Amino acid sequence: MGKGIKIVTIGGGSSYTPELIEGFIKRYYELPVRELWLVDIEAGREKLEIVGNLAKRMVEKAGVPIEIHLTLDRRQALKDADFVTTQMRVGLLDARVKDERIPLEMGMIGQETNGAGGLFKGLRTIPVLLEITEEMQELCPNAWLINFTNPAGMVTEALLRYSNHKNVIGVCNVPFNMHLSISKMLGVEMERVYIEFAGLNHMLFGLHVYVDDQEVTQKVLEMLGDPDIQMNMKNIAPLPWNTQFLKGLGVVPCPYHRYFYKTKDILEEELEAYKTGKTRAEVVKKLEEELFKLYEDEMLDIKPPQLEKRGGAYYSDAACNVISSIYNDKKDIQVLNVQNKGAIADIDYESAVEVNCMVTKNGPIPLTVGKLPVQIKGLVQQIKSFEILGAEAAVTGSFEKALVALTINPLIPSDDLAEDVLQALLEAHKEYLPLFFKQ
Ligand code: G6P
Repeated sequence: MGKGIKIVTIGGGSSYTPELIEGFIKRYYELPVRELWLVDIEAGREKLEIVGNLAKRMVEKAGVPIEIHLTLDRRQALKDADFVTTQMRVGLLDARVKDERIPLEMGMIGQETNGAGGLFKGLRTIPVLLEITEEMQELCPNAWLINFTNPAGMVTEALLRYSNHKNVIGVCNVPFNMHLSISKMLGVEMERVYIEFAGLNHMLFGLHVYVDDQEVTQKVLEMLGDPDIQMNMKNIAPLPWNTQFLKGLGVVPCPYHRYFYKTKDILEEELEAYKTGKTRAEVVKKLEEELFKLYEDEMLDIKPPQLEKRGGAYYSDAACNVISSIYNDKKDIQVLNVQNKGAIADIDYESAVEVNCMVTKNGPIPLTVGKLPVQIKGLVQQIKSFEILGAEAAVTGSFEKALVALTINPLIPSDDLAEDVLQALLEAHKEYLPLFFKQ
């Protein structure tokens, strides 16, 4: 990194890219990025141009000497990279519409990171990410892969198990959002709040919450039970929690736990959205159109506030912080998806977990959690099995593995329905799933 840092962003034409640019601009004094390569595919050429030009204007306005390169040539971009971030969506938003609508049509939750939709996003994405890490081995073997592409848990699991590239980290904005919301709820600065996080991606719990040296977990749970106080993401229906349940649970659930603990209520909300053509993917498609219209305006040279209507708000803080901590050997604590290595006693040594880590120049070191409380252990293990089987199905193209992954997922009510939804989604996503259709 002697000549300055080279960063490559795959899926660079995403509407989220201005978030990332803002993150690099804000941190330029500690993270001197020399080159940022935004990479996309032919189908994303137009968006890449639009968002890339906005990125150039943002950098110019900020007066930082970051060179922005736009390319469709991934190999050229990857050559000698220091960090590679991935934020692509295989099949674009149309594939997400199918991931959400097809399960809903059959009466099941339709969501892009869990259940049937989550599995299919994993099946489409994992082979592409494995191709990327193979190219990284050849072109930038020491570079860190910072993956955002969902389902981040299953994807990290697959990379840890099936790729030779070991410098892999999965990142998500949920821990940052939880930390921020809890600090706001308590009325104290974020730096004073420490949360011991443990679990999996979108299956994350705050086991203990501290303000300075005082444990305040119960107080947080009481506040969370107040229907007027929300800790949520823009993409999840803000359904209030059962107060007695929270008290009994004793640990802080993440917004995504509504899918598991309020399945019936979430399903009702989603079915309503299905009927009116307002599933999240459909809402996001409209939002994206608006965002790209804004991005086209040559007078725009900052991240527009409208981007905060997306669920991924603050994702660049998570990505830029981990890159900066590796570069600067900060040894600070961040919540990342990494190999467990014994941090959570109830999960395999080699599996991916989302947990507090100390981030050093040699990468993140997961902090020991020990055993999970009995009330959450079963669900975490169950979803971990779903992720392992899903990852295996993605690399083998095995129908049976995919069927078992689905059937053991708590969001799928029966083996026969699992088979029906599997058949329907395989047909719908055929062009992105060559392994399942090989002769
Ligand atoms: C949350 C999740 C991300 C997800 C995003 C979707 O932030 O943590 O993993 O990608 O929401 O937001 P969207 O606006 O696309 O529905």
